[in-house]
Amino acid sequence: MSILTVNTRPFSDQKPGTSGLRKKVPVFKQAHYLENFVQSIFDSIAAPQDASLVLGGDGRYYNREAIQIILKMAAANGFGAVLVGRGGILSTPAASCVIRKHKTFGGIILSASHNPGGPDGDFGIKFNSSNGGPATETVTEAIFAKSKTIFSYRILDVADVPLDQLCETTLGGMKVRVFDPVSDYAELMESLFDFAAIRALLKGGFKIKFDAMHAVNGPYAKEILEARLGAPAGSVMNGVPLEDFGGGHPDPNLTYAHDLVEIMYGVDAPDFGAASDGDGDRNMILGKHFFVTPSDSLAIVAANATLVSGYKQGLAGIARSMPTSAAADRVAKALNIPCYETPTGWKFFGNLMDAGKVTLCGEESFGTSSSHVREKDGLWAVLFWLNVLAVRKQSVEAIVRGHWEKFGRNFYSRYDYEGLPTEAANGVMQHLRESFSALTGKQFDKYTVQVCDDFCYTDPVDGSISKNQGIRILFADGSRIIFRLSGTGTEGATLRVYLEQYEPDVSRHHLDAQEALKELIGIALGISELQTLTGRDQPTVIT
Ligand code: G1P
Ligand code: ZN
Repeated sequence: MSILTVNTRPFSDQKPGTSGLRKKVPVFKQAHYLENFVQSIFDSIAAPQDASLVLGGDGRYYNREAIQIILKMAAANGFGAVLVGRGGILSTPAASCVIRKHKTFGGIILSASHNPGGPDGDFGIKFNSSNGGPATETVTEAIFAKSKTIFSYRILDVADVPLDQLCETTLGGMKVRVFDPVSDYAELMESLFDFAAIRALLKGGFKIKFDAMHAVNGPYAKEILEARLGAPAGSVMNGVPLEDFGGGHPDPNLTYAHDLVEIMYGVDAPDFGAASDGDGDRNMILGKHFFVTPSDSLAIVAANATLVSGYKQGLAGIARSMPTSAAADRVAKALNIPCYETPTGWKFFGNLMDAGKVTLCGEESFGTSSSHVREKDGLWAVLFWLNVLAVRKQSVEAIVRGHWEKFGRNFYSRYDYEGLPTEAANGVMQHLRESFSALTGKQFDKYTVQVCDDFCYTDPVDGSISKNQGIRILFADGSRIIFRLSGTGTEGATLRVYLEQYEPDVSRHHLDAQEALKELIGIALGISELQTLTGRDQPTVIT
């Protein structure tokens, strides 16, 4: 067994995006591609000799091969121990939980989240720090800088490690511990929620359906919802993780989780429905014939937090990503706690949570979580809702409508234009930037533009500055239109348009969001000249 130093040449495209490095599988499979990036991580994170790491992924195609490569490289780079989820499996929130619980130096998570998998699908990798959260921008920039100058990497010349049984082996001087990916996480959930109350709710005939979308959360949901909470077998659908997610797009929204949506809007629909994504960190919440927008879900979770045992002491604060609706801000105001507005991506929440400034965080992109981990957490959100439902004994719809009555409704929608030529997408952003001064003060019927800017965030904890985080058109009545380019896609560019309008009038709360936002959508298309500049009449996905 020897340590090989392999010569390589830098790849120019290893810049981590919103959540790590994501590329098509064939890109990752190029000789040295994954190895270069892993060595760039190891060279940037200054881990002490014999440090330990957590390693696992969402089980998508190429997960197993990548795990073996990373183990051999960790051993050759002086790590003392790696904790690997059995079969190479770990949901993203479970990885965060294990890093924190076992106090490792950090972890490497293999996932392209909600992007499709398979030989022609996507793969991804990211480094999480000792707080369990995605590396900060300072670290991801250092990794990228390293990837541009790398000329060799170290790897152990050794046979593959068996990963399918719980065991402890050694690789060179490094320990490899294969552990149960579910148990630490399930234990954490039991410590936060009133499992007895949820069990009683389910026993009383409250029906639930959870769609794991053939992704990583299947085993977690079966253990927690069916085994520990007693939901009848079959309450978890698509519960067997598959390398290609059964050919599906494991993104829990109304478009891609259509099997679940049909059930929840069908006859005899269950009382509660939910889905999570490829790596288990996103969630969608549904009631009988009713959809809860993620922005509303964050606000409702916040407003009801003290009903849930793990949060009964109240919240330190709330944080939401800039494009997420301001529904949570209204709850924060009522609770007299601070509300922070961060750029898109979970990595910006970590500092706020580490400093004790916030307890809950959320994004409009179906992400909600709390300071129990440093990632968003799909099943956590599901359990939170179930706990609230068990206490309030009302339907999902009644809880949401009651919330709107009290706080007003933030109508919200996001339009995604996927797979655009990069120049066309940049052209729209450029055109908008050039229109800032002409737009400011301009009136469109009842909407007056108050501010146009490029969102810039100064981290209140470490003072770091993140520029160009999305174009904001803010109207005098609090309505907003945001334009942003996605940082997670692997093909061309994706332009996202976020629309929000606040409606205090209860008699208008029944409106369909698309109907309520019609005028704003028209303004967004008009000022951006999106249709002319991209040649697209319709968005690819509306959420
Ligand atoms: C998207 C979401 C963002 C989320 C990220 C990772 O990033 O918009 O909120 O944190 O996926 O799940 P984007 O593609 O917009 O850069
Ligand atoms: Zn995800």
